[in-house]
Formats: sequence, structure tokens, C-alpha cells
Amino acid sequence: MKLKQRLQTTFQDKMNSKQLERLPAGYSIIGDIAIFHHIDESISDYKELLGDIILDLDPKISVVVEQLNTLTSYRKPIISRIAGEFRTKTIHREFKTEFHLDVAEITLSPGNKGERESLIQKVENNEIICDMFACIGNLSLPILVNNPSITAYGVEWNQIAYNFLETNIKANKVEKRYYPIFGDNRKSTPINFATRVLMGYFGSDEAQFRCALEALKGEGWIHYHSLSSREKLNEPEKYIKRLSKTIDYDIEIKEIRRIKKFSPKKYHLCTDLYVKKY
Ligand SMILES: C[S@@+](CC[C@H](N)C(=O)[O-])C[C@H]1O[C@@H](n2cnc3c(N)ncnc32)[C@H](O)[C@@H]1O
Repeated sequence: MKLKQRLQTTFQDKMNSKQLERLPAGYSIIGDIAIFHHIDESISDYKELLGDIILDLDPKISVVVEQLNTLTSYRKPIISRIAGEFRTKTIHREFKTEFHLDVAEITLSPGNKGERESLIQKVENNEIICDMFACIGNLSLPILVNNPSITAYGVEWNQIAYNFLETNIKANKVEKRYYPIFGDNRKSTPINFATRVLMGYFGSDEAQFRCALEALKGEGWIHYHSLSSREKLNEPEKYIKRLSKTIDYDIEIKEIRRIKKFSPKKYHLCTDLYVKKY
């Protein structure tokens, strides 16, 4: 039985029909923490009971929280506890990779899982990756864990995310191939070294796009993330074409992919670009 149906059966004597309709259809799981996104206000009195039901239903879950929002370019989530243990730190395992994180400080979007998997497959042996928005290693760590010939440089300016990145590099035993860099990627991204640049944050600016170009050595890939309204899925194409006119490199758009629904009106997209600098 689907979660919503199951909850509706459990709550049928306690809620009216409108409230039953607004019960959540699902939650994300990071490590052993279940995360609900924006529980409807009309059922807020039942949150604790809802959390206890999830703890009963799923033995792998030890904590249930609600994520209300994310703040600033640090993407700090606003979390409130609903049920279970009083902690927000956990270890999430995916693609043989161990991510230590605190869900009250860091977002690790399950909606980006497909992108994490596709990068593992796309990368060729001996590549050098530049992850300009490294966070805790979300996109770049699984590539290194799954291919021992890859090296990565990851830039992160949030001290808390950076500390977890260092922990995760050690936990996954890639410290000889993963070089973390603390700072603003506009100033700290190394130049002329990478075969592939990950721009895994959809709020990046033109200065950061130029840093991505400068990070590439000779030629290579840029994976550029952005948000677009559903009616304007060609927005990244327009943006890249406008920038290309001011840049003396050959920039080819190879693919524009939908990663996930971001909001009722917006998609999170990834544009794959191949750049030749000569
Ligand atoms: C959305 S998270 C990265 C998510 C990850 N790429 C993924 O797909 O799951 C964006 C990260 O970029 C970092 N960031 C944003 N602006 C930055 C900047 N100018 N320099 C370095 N890091 C930055 C934030 O602190 C945050 O950890």
C-alpha cells in the first residue's frame, strides 16, 4: 500500500476529509533520517504522531524531521524535529560512497541521485575533476570512489560543509586523489588543469562560469546546473550563447537535461558543454 493511503487509513478517525487529502505522499531518506518537506499546516497538530508512525513502519529510520526551506547560497536547510532520536547527524551511503553530514546544516538532494550516478558513468579514466561547488563531496566523491584513476579538486566556502568534505575524503580513503580547497570559487578555483568542471549549484553567476572555463586545460566538459521555468527550458541555451559571444573559446552545448522538479513552476536542469580553448 502507498504511504499516503496507509496514513489515510491510520488517521481516518482523527482527521476530516480535507486533512486526509493533505497527508504527505512521501519523504526522503538521508542515512537513517526521514525528511518530510513542508507538511501542510492543516495537519500540523498530528506531526508527532505521523513521525511515530514512520518510525514504526520503517525500522531503518531513527529520526524524523521536517525541512521547511533552504537559506542563502550556503543552501542551509531549516529543519525541525518531529520524532525519534534528538540528533541530525547521520551517514548516508550511496554508490559505495559514505557521506557524513548533518541534515540541519547540509542538503544532499535525493533528486540529484541520477546525476551522481550518470557522472560516475560519463567520466573517463585518468580525468581530473574540478568540483566548483563541492559541498560535502556530493557529486565528485562517488566518481573517485568508483574509479581509482580519477583525481579531483573540490572548492567549498561554507566551513561546515568543508569540514564534512574533509571527513568524507578520509572516510572514503581518497585523500591521495581528492584535494579540498576552502574559499570562494571566484577566487580559489585553480586554472588550466581540469578535464571536467562540475558547476552543481543553480545560483552561479557569470564570473563563476568564466572560472569554470579557465579551470579547463585545453578542452573538456562543463556540467552547468540552473533553474528554469517550465515554459522556458531553453533559458540555459540562451545564457550560454550570450556568454559565448564574449568568450574566445569554442563552446558547444551537447545536452540539456532535467534533473528534477524544483517547484511547481521550475525545473532543475543540467547543461553539458564541451569546450575547446584553441
Ligand atoms: C547545492 S550545494 C551543492 C550540491 C551538490 N553539487 C549536489 O548536486 O548535491 C552548493 C554548494 O556550493 C557552495 N557554494 C556556493 N557558492 C559558492 C562559492 N562562491 N564558492 C564556493 N562554494 C560555494 C555552497 O556552500 C554549497 O555547499
